[in-house]
Parts: sequence; structure tokens; C-alpha cells
Amino acid sequence: MRADDVAQDLRTPVLEPGVRVPGATTTGATTARTTFPASAPDQGGLPAAGYRAGILGAGFMGGVHARAVRTGGGRVVSVAAADLEIARAAAPGLGAERAVASAEELLADPEVDVVHVCTPNHLHVPLARAALAAGKHVVCEKPLATDVEGAVELARLAAEARAADGRVAVVPFTYRFHAMVREARERVRRGEVGTVSLVHGSYLQDWLLRDSDDNWRVDPALGGASRAFGDIGSHFCDLLEFTTGHRIVRLVAQSATVNPHRRGADGVVHEVATEDAVTLQYATDGGALGTAVISQVSAGRKNRLYLEISGTESTLSFDQEQPETLWEGRRDASRLLVRDPEALSAAAARYSRLPAGHAQGYQDCFDALVADTATAIRGSVPDGLPTFEDGLRAARLAAAVGESVRSGVWVEVTA
Ligand SMILES: NC(=O)c1ccc[n+]([C@@H]2O[C@H](COP(=O)([O-])OP(=O)(O)OC[C@H]3O[C@@H](n4cnc5c(N)ncnc54)[C@H](O)[C@@H]3O)[C@@H](O)[C@H]2O)c1
Repeated sequence: MRADDVAQDLRTPVLEPGVRVPGATTTGATTARTTFPASAPDQGGLPAAGYRAGILGAGFMGGVHARAVRTGGGRVVSVAAADLEIARAAAPGLGAERAVASAEELLADPEVDVVHVCTPNHLHVPLARAALAAGKHVVCEKPLATDVEGAVELARLAAEARAADGRVAVVPFTYRFHAMVREARERVRRGEVGTVSLVHGSYLQDWLLRDSDDNWRVDPALGGASRAFGDIGSHFCDLLEFTTGHRIVRLVAQSATVNPHRRGADGVVHEVATEDAVTLQYATDGGALGTAVISQVSAGRKNRLYLEISGTESTLSFDQEQPETLWEGRRDASRLLVRDPEALSAAAARYSRLPAGHAQGYQDCFDALVADTATAIRGSVPDGLPTFEDGLRAARLAAAVGESVRSGVWVEVTA
């Protein structure tokens, strides 16, 4: 498949403008949300491509989500942050048409069709719940919830919204959208790796290395009881399960708090109750074994999500910091596969927006996630779109890790 065909593929709505999403009702506000008229944005309908978004949270992820919405041909209609001043200051950078004082105000806006929750973790459940109650589609950042109960509730509410009027609820497990991740998944699926026997890896960062490094994630009241695992271990496990098709069924974990005290921005030293690192060992329902190291205190490692899958025929390894390549190891000869929409599987080519040699990266993953969300809103859910069910899965894994750390024994992972 050629790169420009693929780019077109990602941009093109599955249904033509004016077509109603199957299952949508024909009365009231629901019709306005689930129909995308042929009108241009300034005529009050959904944009011809993309959608009308409201962004809750104007930090790092608020910016990434807003860029993805606009790249996809959508509009960032409104933004809310911790207060109006922050939202106003951020709005021009996000390309937001207006800044509002509160999440409530944003959710009441009939021009907002899709709400992106990009706030600290403790707000995900109340904000995603309120967004679904307001009749919106929702893209809620990970972790979907800081406990299993919250994630169960949101997954149920999302299923009800989908059944009622085809609404979409997505959790950005964004690394799924690297073309070479799709290539690895395709090669496993086609049997080229053979029977998968070992799956190991790591997710290493260093931004919390020093005791002078601090962030809301360190506080369990804002970030949740699990920090390193809840924040980035969730991405590792999602990538593992997504590429192999296996599910982790049992695990044993240890954690370390390397900095038991941290000095906040206000200069006050506080005790740390969340972990800096987790190591785990696990078994999958497909009979594979594996280990993982998850750390936010590994000097020099910035965002090194690494996954290696070994089977009876070959090994595949993917490094998120080198996302243009996938290493394929074989007994007789090994090679580095390079992203190339002309040469790789259709599954990988779909996420290659640029020709080979023109590097893609993290923001491209988000652009693709938003494009697939738009496609799902138009009635056809693309393969691999991460949903609230996947957010619930991550919450169950985080709970199992926490239980094993506390008990020191192997824990079965349910559902
Ligand atoms: N999927 C990914 O790859 C990825 C990467 C980084 C972060 N995240 C997730 O994104 C979320 C945000 O992380 P971040 O790094 O952008 O944080 P951040 O600290 O940079 O930004 C948080 C924003 O939330 C705003 N906020 C606080 N209270 C609010 C409220 N009541 N209503 C609206 N906005 C409010 C703040 O003003 C700030 O703008 C986290 O849940 C994090 O886990 C996901």
C-alpha cells in the first residue's frame, strides 16, 4: 500500500457526511451528536473530517490531544484547566476557540461532541462519568481509574452509552499506534514468531530520579496508590497483551521507593508513599513467561518502553525510542526491519503516514488514535482502538501488582 493511500485511508470517514451512525436515535441532542451533516464547521455541524473536541486539562497531554484533534481536521472548541487563568493562558497554544472556567461549563457546551480528559488521575472517574452523563464521546487518559471499582463503573457506563447511541469511549494506549508495533502484532498473528514462549521488557524513565524531582503523580491522593506501575507499567502490559494476543494470568511483583522523601516545588520536604520502580514476573494464558522492569528513576532513560517477544521461530524486539525499526532475530540470520509502507503488512502501512525514511514518532501515534476515534464515532470501530475495557484491564493488573507487592506471593489476575 502506498503512503499517500494510507494517509487518505486514515483521514477518510467510513461513512459519507449526512449518514447517521447505526443505532443512533432520531430525536433530541443525540441526533445532533451522532449525525455528521455535510455542513462545514462554521455552519454548526461536525467538521468534514475529525470532530469537535473539548479538552479538560491543559498540560503536556492537553497539548498532545489538541494537536491531534486539529491535525485530524477537527476543532478544539473549548478548554478547561485547574482554573480559568490557566485555561486562558493555554488556549492559544492549543488552538482552542474558547477557555472556560470549569469542566461543568465545558460539558454543558452543545458544540462539544468529544471530551478529552487530560487531567491528573484522581479526576478521571468523576470527569469521564460526567462527560458520559452529558451525552459526549470520551477520550480519557490512562490510568482510566486509580482503582478497579472506578474502572468497572466507567466500563459499564461506556458500554451503556455505546448500546444507547453508538458513543465511543477510548483510553490512549498510544504506543499501539506505532506502525512497527502493528507489524510485530501482525507477524505474531501470522505465526512467523512460532509459539510465543518468552515476553520480556521494560519501561524506563529518569524524570523522577532526584529527590528534588516532584509532581502530582507522587501524591497517591492525586495520582493513585500505584505510581510507576499505574503510570507507565500499564502501557507496558497493554503493549505486551496487544502485540502477542496473550493475557497475563498470574504475576509476582516487588517495588522500590528509591527516594523516600522528595522536596516539592514549595521547598517543603514530604514523605513519599508511592513506588519509584516495580519489577514483575508473569505467566500468560498462551503459556509464555516473562519479566519486566518499570522505573521512573533510571538515569539516562527518558521514555524507553522496550518489548521483546521470543517464539519457536524468531524473536521480535521493539524500542519506543527507536520506533522506526523492529528487530527480527533468527538462528540463521537476523535483521532490522525499517518502517516502509511499501514493504510491510497492511496493518503497519495503515499507520505509516509518511514514506520510508521520513521519521514518525509519538505525536503521530496520537494523531492516529484520534483519527481512529473519529472513524469509530462515524460507526466503524478500527481494529486495535483501545477502549474503556482496556482501561479496566490495566486497573486489574495494577491491583494485582499492588496485592503481590503487599503479600509477597504470586497473584492470579482475573478477567
Ligand atoms: N497516554 C500517554 O501517553 C500519556 C502520557 C503522559 C501523560 N498521560 C496522562 O495524561 C494525564 C495528564 O498528564 P499531564 O502530564 O498532561 O499532566 P499535567 O500536570 O501536565 O497537566 C494536568 C492539567 O490538568 C489541569 N487540571 C487540574 N485540575 C483540573 C480540573 N479540575 N479540571 C480541568 N483541568 C484540570 C491542570 O491545570 C493541568 O493543565 C495523566 O492522567 C497522565 O497519566 C498519558
